[in-house]
Parts: sequence; structure tokens; C-alpha cells
Amino acid sequence: MEWSPEMMEKLAALREKIESTGQDFETYVNGWQRASFQNYWDYVQLDTLLSLQRPVTDVADEPIFIIYHQITELYFKLARIEIDAIAAGDLSVEDFTERVHRINRYFGALRGSFGVMEKGMKKDEFLAFRDALAPASGFQSVQYRIIELGCAPLINIVAETKREEVRDSSIEEQMEFIYWKDGAKIEDTGKPAYTAVQFIEKYWDDLLFAADSYEHCNIWERYQELLQSGVSPEEQLQLENALRLLDLNVNVNWPLQHYKTAVRYLSRKPSDIAATGGTNWQKYLPPRFQRRIFYPELWTDEQRAQWGKSWVDEVLKEIEQGS
Ligand code: HEM
Repeated sequence: MEWSPEMMEKLAALREKIESTGQDFETYVNGWQRASFQNYWDYVQLDTLLSLQRPVTDVADEPIFIIYHQITELYFKLARIEIDAIAAGDLSVEDFTERVHRINRYFGALRGSFGVMEKGMKKDEFLAFRDALAPASGFQSVQYRIIELGCAPLINIVAETKREEVRDSSIEEQMEFIYWKDGAKIEDTGKPAYTAVQFIEKYWDDLLFAADSYEHCNIWERYQELLQSGVSPEEQLQLENALRLLDLNVNVNWPLQHYKTAVRYLSRKPSDIAATGGTNWQKYLPPRFQRRIFYPELWTDEQRAQWGKSWVDEVLKEIEQGS
């Protein structure tokens, strides 16, 4: 068999790469001869992946619940990869916008597939296995919290009622009033539910670390840097639109889809509240109550005042008509 000049060049470059580190080229050639070919199942770790679903009951629909949560966590991981690429800095306007759109695509995919949860399980089966999971809740998803810290200045995700008071405080002090501390509270007593206690015990240090790390390199900070470096009006609009979409995806669209699902399974009758361990989710989850806005500067007063409202009303109407 003849070796083309291009192939010889490639081999020489490879040899150069290996020998420049003081290693022996021939050892590598021998190794390649022995190495087995890559295959799909090892590459994607299929056996491991398929062994990670461990239902705690024998209720038929429980694997759907586990698998969809795992799918979501993988999408969250994809979003974190993009957030970290943006945090690393030095991106062009085009790269920055594209990376924000990647996150938008991931959240779009999650929103579009949430029917797997909303419609895809029998309500009585869900309620049957839900009790066996207590006190676990998606509320304990640390990736979700880290995504928020990577997207926006911490002060914007501090509870609205505390924001002015702690605006100039340290990261630690601001974190004490992060909005989600108002969630997973016992409806009757207002005390943190065990699901929140457990979560904070396990992850508080990691969350403080993330808040600290993203303070000067979250998506908003990097956007500000790009603006300062000088961008055209068209580029600015492109950037703003990508960020507006991100704000809506993370803070309205996904949460509404999720809320709608919680309503379907957990109902709104006080007698059903026990199914969640008695938490205040009905007052906490709707975006119009949380009013989480990553980028308030990109919205008008009217849009901020109406945050999540028309959507929620529409969603609720849809639910009421359907039930
Ligand atoms: C049938 C499906 C689901 C139901 C009924 C449900 C229910 C709830 C409820 C009631 C809460 C409020 C906290 C609490 O009281 O425990 C909550 C929070 C949360 N859930 Fe779900 N959930 C479902 C699916 C999911 C999925 C698939 C995910 C994906 C990881 C998820 C992620 C979250 C997150 C991140 C929170 C915190 C939201 C926030 O703080 O604003 N949930 N969920």
C-alpha cells in the first residue's frame, strides 16, 4: 500500500508531537495496534446509564418520574457548560450570543418535553409512589440553583422584599435571603420543611462558593463587559434578545410548565396539600409571586409589573376548563 505525501506529513507531525514530550513514537504505534476499537455502548457508558434508575416502589409509572428528572439534570449540566464558557470570558458577541442561545435551546427542549411529566403518568400512580419519596423534592436540585447564580447578579435573585436592605451587603448576607428560602416552608407554621433543611445542610457551602465564583463573571457581568468593549446597535439588540429569552425561559416558561404539572398532580384543594409534605408550594411556585427576573434592566416597568401574569392566568384558565 502506498502512503500519500499528505499521510506521511500527518505521521511526521504525530511523531513530532510525541517525541517533543520525550516519549517514544514506536511505543505508541505498538499500543495502537493492540488497542480495541471504540464502540457506542462504552463511549456513552450505556450500561452504567441504564443502571442508574432505582425505583423505591413497585408502582409502574415511577421509572418515568426518575428518568425524566435525570434527563432534566443532564440538560442542566449542558446549560452549566455554556454558563462556564461565558464565565471564562473573552468571547466575541457572536460566540456569547450563540452560547446563550444554546442554554435557551436546552430550556426550550425541557419546556417542550414537560408533557412527559404533566400528562405522562397516572395521577393515582404518581400519588402512590410520591409518599415513598418523601422528603425528596426537585427543590433540592443543586444544579438549578447554580444555573441561577451563573446567570444573574446575586442581588437579583434575593427575595424582592429584602433586596434594598441587603444591596450593599456581603455575598454571605445576601445568600441568607435568596428567594428560594421562601419556598419549601411548612404551610401551617412557616418553618422550613425538612426538604429545605436537608438541602441546605448538604449544599450550602457549595452554593456560597458558586455565588462567590460567579460574582464578577456571571452572564450579566460578561454582557456588560462586551457592551463596554464597544458593540454596534444591531449587536446590542442581538445580545439583549438572547438574554431576554433566557430570562423568560428560566424564570417564566419552565417554572410555569412545572407549576402546571404540580397543580395537575397535587391539586389545589387544602385536603390534598399533605401530598407534598404540607409545603407552601401553591403560594411559592407561580412566577407572578416569585417575580424572579435576572435582567430587570432589559424589561419595561410594565413588563416587570406583569411578570408571569398573563401566562399564569392563561394556564390556570386552561386547567380549570380541562378539569
Ligand atoms: C409530577 C412532577 C412534579 C411535581 C408534582 C413537582 C412538584 C414540586 C413542588 C410541589 C415543588 C415546591 C417545593 C416543595 O414543596 O417540595 C417543586 C419544586 C421544584 N421542582 Fe418539582 N415537581 C415535579 C417535577 C419536577 C421535575 C421533572 C423537575 C426537574 C428537575 C423538578 C424540579 C423542581 C425544582 C428545581 C423546584 C424548585 C423550584 C423553585 O424553587 O422555584 N420538578 N416541585
